[in-house]
Amino acid sequence: MLVRGDSIHPDGPAIRPAVASPADEQRFDPAAVFRAGLALHHLANTAYPLAHQNTWRPYRLPNAAVGPFLNQTWQTNAELCLYVHIPFCESRCYYCEYTVVTNQTALEQSDYVQGLVQEIRRYRSVLPSAQPPIVGFDIGGGTPALLSQSELDDIIAVVRQNFCLADDCQISMETTPSLAAAASAKLLHWKSVGIERVSMGIQVTQPLLLAQLNRTRESLDTHQKAMDQIRSAGFQAVNLDLMYGFARQTLADWQATLQHGVALEPDTITVYQMRYKLSRIAREAAEVGLDKINAMQTIAHDLLTAYGYHARIGKNTYAKPGHEPGTSSYLTHRVVEGVPYLGFGLGAQSFGPAYIAYNKGAAGKNLKPYLRSLQSNEWPVQDLYHLPLEQLQAKMIAVSFYFGAVHLPSFQRRFGVSLQNAYPAAWDFVLNHQYMVVDGEHLQLTNRGSQYYNGIIALFYAPSVQAVLLEQARHQKQSGPRDGMAAS
Ligand SMILES: C[S@@+](CC[C@H](N)C(=O)[O-])C[C@H]1O[C@@H](n2cnc3c(N)ncnc32)[C@H](O)[C@@H]1O
Ligand code: SF4
Repeated sequence: MLVRGDSIHPDGPAIRPAVASPADEQRFDPAAVFRAGLALHHLANTAYPLAHQNTWRPYRLPNAAVGPFLNQTWQTNAELCLYVHIPFCESRCYYCEYTVVTNQTALEQSDYVQGLVQEIRRYRSVLPSAQPPIVGFDIGGGTPALLSQSELDDIIAVVRQNFCLADDCQISMETTPSLAAAASAKLLHWKSVGIERVSMGIQVTQPLLLAQLNRTRESLDTHQKAMDQIRSAGFQAVNLDLMYGFARQTLADWQATLQHGVALEPDTITVYQMRYKLSRIAREAAEVGLDKINAMQTIAHDLLTAYGYHARIGKNTYAKPGHEPGTSSYLTHRVVEGVPYLGFGLGAQSFGPAYIAYNKGAAGKNLKPYLRSLQSNEWPVQDLYHLPLEQLQAKMIAVSFYFGAVHLPSFQRRFGVSLQNAYPAAWDFVLNHQYMVVDGEHLQLTNRGSQYYNGIIALFYAPSVQAVLLEQARHQKQSGPRDGMAAS
């Protein structure tokens, strides 16, 4: 078994995990953490940690140390995933939690793509000469479908020149329905450059709700046309994103949205519970109780299952037979196996063997600082956190809950310790309450556990993050749920 400070990767990266701060050496009563996670169910989710500028402050490297750290840390030939962020959108949906830029000019978009090209080349210089195999590659946003053909060509070319894509590495791309419906030539081009999976955001289908969310109101015909164009371009892996958990969304609205989704006959449907943190409608979170969330999850599960889509308990992507697991290969490797990933572009996140970094631009949604860094031959990194095992493990597990399960051999492989030994109290708590079971290689949510998902996920947060959750739950209890959520 490895101890703190030892190498956590089979190939032995040069940089080991950091030493935990005193805040990460505390231990809390699992029952109290579980209750806090449930009370703050809009916060305790897969988006770990709660506020990295605060909770991870002790682990932040000074700017001058970022370059030397990156030069050393990637000296490993283990598998990698890549993510390229295209932040541009026609308008900003009020619920959106992503780094998005609107009103960009064609020139700004083109400059950004050249910045991306530079950033991707730059990372290649810190990887070993025997290129690590790339097992997953997502182009997300924002709205990557806004890229021109030549901009997309530039991105694909620089990735192929500088990385070695594994044979089964699937490239996945996001689109909105209106862009897919309007652009059949673009879709054919995507296919020709090797993109194999398309994910399209429908979100909700009620015109009034779409207007309240500042989301373009596409007609239902547009959705069908988009799907027809995607299919005729030859895509055999098509996902739809649907969202639930909005204050002004009724159970009947959600049922109708799901019904509309299955009528389009995608291969997979991903249902996203609204995460309010950092969105423009954060204050509405207090209007959405856990009962409503659980009822919406049950509706989704029953309806999608009735139409032949399946997901393991707690997983948010439902797949038709033959399309499992349904997520892109980037997300699947990242979530199930904890494969490290490099994120390129504005505000993009990277998860290295012993660190997490966020690129410039997430806070200000401003392209300039990101581009300026690249022009000055600097890393476009805003914050790089050299993390201890407690935080690295918590990050991997939080994301695993996208799949409703932790893959035990992958955890052991990445951290050199079993999940049970790393989290003895949480392990006993979830098994004793039958919230989770050991199912083959997985620690798997049960039906009972899926109703308490937010409490369970918090059990695996690192102590310093649990402390924030406990403090906020205390505050919420004193001031009432509305103030509690607004304060977050
Ligand atoms: C990176 S977004 C890009 C999707 C694409 N631009 C679109 O809007 O169709 C991917 C998905 O994240 C989901 N999403 C966006 N904001 C969210 C939030 N605050 N909470 C949960 N899911 C969210 C949406 O379902 C969206 O389709
Ligand atoms: S949901 Fe999609 S279209 Fe809307 S702002 Fe976010 S990334 Fe842009």
